[in-house]
Amino acid sequence: MMTRYLTVNPKRPEPEAIAEAAAVIRGGGTVVFPTETVYGLGANGLDPAAVERIFIAKGRPRRNPLILHVASLEQARRLVTAWPHEAERLAARFWPGPLTLILPRAAVVPDIVTAGLPSVALRFPVHPVALALIERSGLPIAAPSANTSGCPSPTLAEHVRADLDGRVDLVLDAGATAVGVESTILDLSGDLPLLLRPGGVAREELERVLGAVRLHESAQPGARVPAQAGAAPEDGQGEAVAPCPGTLFRHYAPRAEALVVTGSPGEQEEKIRNYLAAHPDRRVALLATAESAPVYLQMMHDASSDAAPGVPVHVEVLGSRSRPEEIACRIFSALRNCDRVGAEVILMEEIPLPGIGLAVMNRLYRAAANRTL
Ligand code: TXA
Ligand code: MG
Repeated sequence: MMTRYLTVNPKRPEPEAIAEAAAVIRGGGTVVFPTETVYGLGANGLDPAAVERIFIAKGRPRRNPLILHVASLEQARRLVTAWPHEAERLAARFWPGPLTLILPRAAVVPDIVTAGLPSVALRFPVHPVALALIERSGLPIAAPSANTSGCPSPTLAEHVRADLDGRVDLVLDAGATAVGVESTILDLSGDLPLLLRPGGVAREELERVLGAVRLHESAQPGARVPAQAGAAPEDGQGEAVAPCPGTLFRHYAPRAEALVVTGSPGEQEEKIRNYLAAHPDRRVALLATAESAPVYLQMMHDASSDAAPGVPVHVEVLGSRSRPEEIACRIFSALRNCDRVGAEVILMEEIPLPGIGLAVMNRLYRAAANRTL
């Protein structure tokens, strides 16, 4: 298929562009649209045939369910059979915004959306383009991140083009997304709220509303994930589906081998210097904080050639360690840039876990399939 690209104003999207995109959604097609977190690959969430096109375009395993995006509380409540007190309070505080709630699903939600689970994931995004598209189409929009399954999520339309050109009907390009990591996923379908995926809303912010929130073991930075892209455990007989099926799959992985560099800033520098010295023949790229990057940029500057032994070939400066929001909005682009310059190895500095740092480290550990230096 031919993919059409439309540039839209991120704050005041042009009504004609939104009308065209809504017509594609209503007609059962696929539209990539910006949200405040990452770009989403959307289709009519009530039409199984349309939703199937999402799985095909992404090459996504069918047992990994999708989020339904809504543009009002009423629309959300029609998709679930229960609306607990916690949902009411969280929605009042964080919706619209980067929080996804898992609730018992209503019968109108097709099986293909939830991968047969009894619950459904709901998100009310705040991005004006996403809201306008959902409102204009009058439908809940099923949308995963608009990347090829297993690859880093897209924060720019050019990332979408690299992964999905010719595989979707329309792309709405509204520039860079603001948050840069996906929404926080909170499961409210069980007895106690359970944080399945750290994301744009920090755990501490949820805890101000709910009290202590348990983090699912798979959401801990460094939790075990399968090393193979798309790998999932055997379909054992009667095996329970994991609470967050997406956590079964390798994610956010660049082509290069990625390693998380652990320790204090001083230990990190020592490990990186040792690694560079021990692998003079490898093309090593770095994801570095603003505080540590100058050392490596100076090494590159002083080197006699582009690919001098023991010197990084590329440094991505993510932002200050004291401003993890800045780092979050750059990590996925940074991973893609390292691939583009032909890095063989990406060394990624660990950052502190408070706030959105937890989401950043969750994504970096997954990109590294938990390998550390
Ligand atoms: O910020 C975001 O959430 C972005 C934008 C586009 O909205 N979307 C996104 O979707 O990240 P996706 O499909 O890449 O990640 C959704 C995650 C998956 O890990 C999936 O397994 C999980 O949500 N999920 C969906 N429905 C679920 C359910 N009923 N129970 C548990 N986990 C669920
Ligand atoms: Mg995704």
